[in-house]
Amino acid sequence: MNTIRYDFRSDTVTRPSAGMRAAMAEAEVGDDVFGDDPTVNRLEQRMAAMLGKQAALFVSSGTLSNLLALMSHCGRGDEFIAGQDAHCYKYEAGGAAVLGSIQPQPIAHRSDGTMDLGEIEGAIKAGDSHFATTRVIALENTFGGKVLPVGYMDQVAVIAQRHGLGLHLDGARAFNACVALGTDIKSFTAPFDSVSICLSKGLGAPVGSVLIGRRDLIETARRHRKMLGGGLRQSGILAAAGLYALEHNIDRMADDHRRASRLADGLAGFPLLKVAPAETNMVFVDIDKRIADRFTSFLQDRGIGIAGRYGQRWVTHLDIDDDAVDGALAVVAAFFSDVVA
Ligand SMILES: Cc1ncc(COP(=O)(O)O)c(C=O)c1O
Repeated sequence: MNTIRYDFRSDTVTRPSAGMRAAMAEAEVGDDVFGDDPTVNRLEQRMAAMLGKQAALFVSSGTLSNLLALMSHCGRGDEFIAGQDAHCYKYEAGGAAVLGSIQPQPIAHRSDGTMDLGEIEGAIKAGDSHFATTRVIALENTFGGKVLPVGYMDQVAVIAQRHGLGLHLDGARAFNACVALGTDIKSFTAPFDSVSICLSKGLGAPVGSVLIGRRDLIETARRHRKMLGGGLRQSGILAAAGLYALEHNIDRMADDHRRASRLADGLAGFPLLKVAPAETNMVFVDIDKRIADRFTSFLQDRGIGIAGRYGQRWVTHLDIDDDAVDGALAVVAAFFSDVVA
């Protein structure tokens, strides 16, 4: 494998900064399974307060956080509604079905990432013994780097309320959405009973997610976290990174978004690349089939890390500065002048 010089594969690749490492080294710790870790407790209280919710739970990953949320809303034989390409349906190894005995009801996305409201409502099962019992609707925002409108989330919340269902947000990158919209996390997440936020993506912490929401759901999630082997001990070392990230790394996401836009504009200058405008920190590029393999290998050989081959995803984050964007665009320009010309 080649050394990656500029790593655009994901915002999960960031390494903790010196300041974050210092905060981790100095963290006061205790046994979190006993509820004794003061730093974990501080992170959970801080997140609950930021979102205006009753409680929060620090967990090791976004996948675990989503799973715990679904297992808290649903029991065995219940059902959750989610997008066909939602992370909690498509990219979490079927955990809800395998470990929670929860049936997914996927719904197709429209081109803007939303789901048709009529289809969501039509998929809710009536109380009939033939059916699994629908318990919760799960949304994701940002979704594929897109910010779904707040009005859409409100409309889904009305449907959930009308049918007595829970509403979960996979907000792995909710702060990116808030920074892009210029809104605060509390109002953005207001309609949701549970929200999962990742600390290890745009926020730049090495590990961890937080599930925030209604106290009863979080208490059930705490029990399930233990059952699934996710109870950690002196995890204040990790929670300290999360607290540091909340302090230092939210507003600066605007830099990631600005760089993603600059990258998108630069890439769009090459006619064989079809580039979607960047709404947050992700740029999606469709590559003309005639050059896709050569283009991808060329970038790879020159230390540019990207996800995908024909449809590429470029992600900006804490470890991508202006020089990285310029450097990557220079490599792309070299490809089109040296190889394709
Ligand atoms: C939208 C979304 N939700 C959840 C996750 C899962 O997070 P983790 O990788 O920490 O399990 C990811 C991971 O990329 C994600 O993109």
